[in-house]
Amino acid sequence: TFVVGEQCIKCKHTDCVEVCPVDCFYEGPNFLVIHPDECIDCALCVSECPVDAIYSEDDLPDDQQIFMELNAELAEVWPNITEIKDPPPDAAEWANQPNKLALLER
Ligand code: SF4
Ligand code: F3S
Repeated sequence: TFVVGEQCIKCKHTDCVEVCPVDCFYEGPNFLVIHPDECIDCALCVSECPVDAIYSEDDLPDDQQIFMELNAELAEVWPNITEIKDPPPDAAEWANQPNKLALLER
């Protein structure tokens, strides 16, 4: 499966949802997740993300392993998103910020 990682937090560009053939993205207040049981591993979304937030689970950095669980957990409770929308107005300021996990809103 593919996994949305930390870079997405407070960026949420949503370009990724437009290309997903199985519509398996789910939207929270400041982050998106992929449902691991629905993703078909097509990899189309990876190059769409302006902040390179999406990883194959095999390539997920060691310090982002928690995002496997977060994607699985939150995809069960957040609503599906299939259409692109405007990112937060301050998305660019957050693009390369480290340690954004504490800012994840549920
Ligand atoms: Fe959707 Fe393909 Fe990305 Fe999985 S890898 S989330 S199926 S676009
Ligand atoms: Fe997030 Fe990138 Fe999609 S910032 S919403 S994973 S395009």
